[in-house]
Amino acid sequence: MPDQPKTYYLTTPIYYVNARPHIGHAYTTIVGDVLARRHRLLGEETFFLTGTDEHGQKIERSAAAAGIPPQQFTDKVSAQFRTLWDRMGITYNDYIRTTEPRHKQGVQQLFRKLYENGFIYLDSYTGAYCVSDEAFVDAPVGTPCPDCGKLLEEVTEENFFFKLSAFQKPLLDLIESNKLAITPPSARNEVLSFVRGDWNSILELSNEELGAEHSEPLEVFEAFDLAHQKGLLEKFGEDLYYIPGALKDLSISRSSFSWGIPVPEDIQKAAGATKPHVVYVWLDALANYMTALGYGSDDDSLWQKFWPADLHLVGKEITRFHCVYWPAFLMAADIATPKAITANGWLLFDNAKMSKSKGNVVRSETILEGFGRLCPPPLALKGTGFSPSVTSPIREEGALAPEANQRDRDLFATDVLRYFLLREIPFGQDGSFSFDAMITRYNADLANGYGNLVSRTLNMIQQYFAGAVPSPIFEVPGTDAIDTSVVGAAAIAFQKKLATLRDTDFSTFLTEVAAFITVVDGFISAAAPWKLAKDPTKADQLATVLYVSAEAIRWISGTLFPICPTITAKVWQQLGLGDINLAATDGELAHLIWGGLKPGTQLGTLGPIFPRADKGLAQIMIDLENPTPLTIENGKLKTPATTDPAAPPRTASLDEPSGTLTVGGSAAHTTGPSTTPSHTEAPASGIFATPPAAPAVSDASPEITIDDFVKVELRIAEVKVCERIPKADKLLRLEVDLGPLGTRQILSGIAEHYTPEEMVGKRIIVITNLAPRKMRGLESHGMLLAASEEGGKPFLATVPEGVPVGTRLK
Ligand code: MSP
Repeated sequence: MPDQPKTYYLTTPIYYVNARPHIGHAYTTIVGDVLARRHRLLGEETFFLTGTDEHGQKIERSAAAAGIPPQQFTDKVSAQFRTLWDRMGITYNDYIRTTEPRHKQGVQQLFRKLYENGFIYLDSYTGAYCVSDEAFVDAPVGTPCPDCGKLLEEVTEENFFFKLSAFQKPLLDLIESNKLAITPPSARNEVLSFVRGDWNSILELSNEELGAEHSEPLEVFEAFDLAHQKGLLEKFGEDLYYIPGALKDLSISRSSFSWGIPVPEDIQKAAGATKPHVVYVWLDALANYMTALGYGSDDDSLWQKFWPADLHLVGKEITRFHCVYWPAFLMAADIATPKAITANGWLLFDNAKMSKSKGNVVRSETILEGFGRLCPPPLALKGTGFSPSVTSPIREEGALAPEANQRDRDLFATDVLRYFLLREIPFGQDGSFSFDAMITRYNADLANGYGNLVSRTLNMIQQYFAGAVPSPIFEVPGTDAIDTSVVGAAAIAFQKKLATLRDTDFSTFLTEVAAFITVVDGFISAAAPWKLAKDPTKADQLATVLYVSAEAIRWISGTLFPICPTITAKVWQQLGLGDINLAATDGELAHLIWGGLKPGTQLGTLGPIFPRADKGLAQIMIDLENPTPLTIENGKLKTPATTDPAAPPRTASLDEPSGTLTVGGSAAHTTGPSTTPSHTEAPASGIFATPPAAPAVSDASPEITIDDFVKVELRIAEVKVCERIPKADKLLRLEVDLGPLGTRQILSGIAEHYTPEEMVGKRIIVITNLAPRKMRGLESHGMLLAASEEGGKPFLATVPEGVPVGTRLK
């Protein structure tokens, strides 16, 4: 029987549908796509899964905020993710949505298995919950979540619990033995220390409590040894210790809302549940990796073939869910654990993780639109009727179509984004994104490096050899022989070096490619083929130089293919090698052999590949991110009349409230001028205050469209708690009830005009979709609406009893 091809199963996280995708999501998806393409090249039967995470309280609230039923809401946002991945040519094999029946079926089966195996019991939970992270948190209610900074909410409810505590030692063994390989080491260490417990609690014990017979300070291992003897520490591995009981059981159902997969009814009944339960969203979500393969369905052939997963790609903030809860669930259900989990770092903007809640996101669509403008038009085949617009030698062969179509532009720009993210960010580390850096990298590595090498080489083959790859003479007789071994040896060294890299060492990989391009470029410059071409006695040398350069281009393109599949396909075509995808599937790219380019190969139609980008492109993309920035002045919505290039970036002073409030767009840019009017020294009002520099007659505000207006979400809220903030004369801290949106903390600069007592119970109007900001170390999430004369007392807009809190004003 022939050997079955090796399989490779790779997943991205499934993305929450509470907001549209941004390039942070694209980053992980791109990494997944590159790995999937690379493993396919190696002849492995690869299954690449992505999808969306659509249940839970966060999504339920987002849908309520949008005023549409959750299913309709998730349908819409999930489609935005999928459409984007399709625009970007992501080669996923399946796209799972957690609201699909196939998923529901599998989750219920997993829940049943865990229950039948005795790892689930019913109890009640009182404690803090972070809705943003959908996580139970061991910290006081009302304080910021230690992970994301959002205020923790109190949850008191009947829950099903999973006996996570039973898996402390099995998890430590699994991770320590690398049966579950976790990378980078920082993620592995974080997970290990979470599972084994906090050693400081041992190191803080006195000699007496540890039973030491002396009072000298103890060495760490001495202390551990004593603690071990006393049963305070257990051992795993050789000399590794853990604190027994440090890992607590985990609530795996919710009973205070309904947007989720129901816990199987017979289990609810048997356990004596008094309320309907839905499965905790993380158990629901993690199970996607199984349900997409048909776990729990009639056809589990993919499940049999591909499980266990070879690699789960995750962002570093969700390693605990994947490396602790997930393998514990699987072990409890007698299912094999994944082989590897690797965490990417964060894309930062303005030194903060790019995220919807911070509002500092850049959308992939902006990059596609911006860099797509550089995409050269497709080259028409000879005789199609397009008239050449330029008569340079490279264009004589093929005529240019009037402009690139949308698909070409999207894929071209996606390649640039893929190249940039993987080249710029050492995998596993955080990396700052900026449009300027992307343009600089594009010009340096793609336009000047790779693109220039391709165009000069192919152009000369076209000119001196009528477009046929010449035959090299590697042993050039005579004294001024060209040392082709410079490139040949560099190519072999390059290949060897790449073989030592791990799958995810993208930035080292691309640095090596760039270095090889520099070697080849230097070789061409030193050999000066344009001079050789003038001397008929040097025809062999000329042929050799150009052959070697073309062969190097074949190597570079084949190597770059998984990262830049579209651009390398164009080069492959121009090199006369046809469809690179065929070379990918027949193994040529996975096993490049130096000298494999056949002399006599007729070049394809030549044309530009990487037009240079000028710096103006950054501004184009900034403008695309912020279509029409809106400001609110004197209580009126206003679009800025002019763009002030000197204005500070939009996040310039998020710590301190500004008098002018920007509500349009979402991005914070460090790299280009902002379109936001200058921040002012206005007092911390938290209401629509008057900035000193605002025009006196606000009626002059330009008109806005209804689309502009609906960007501002206004809702009825009731003040539940209100207090002064020590040492802040103008600020009040309020907790307001927003109905389905829950309770929020808002800081408002009205303390000089309203007392906390008169505020409590007031039904007011709040702008709810403002990005949270910090003042005096406290997060304020929203603003109160008030009317105020310049410098005068603000009058809070209030609403009568009877209108339910949370209702949206439209
Ligand atoms: N739904 C959960 C995951 C469930 S998986 C069973 C979730 N979704 S998420 O939409 O918040 O983000 C998921 C992932 O998107 C992150 O883990 C990360 O891979 C990627 N990123 C989102 N923002 C990112 C950055 N700013 N930078 C890098 N990756 C980012 O968590």
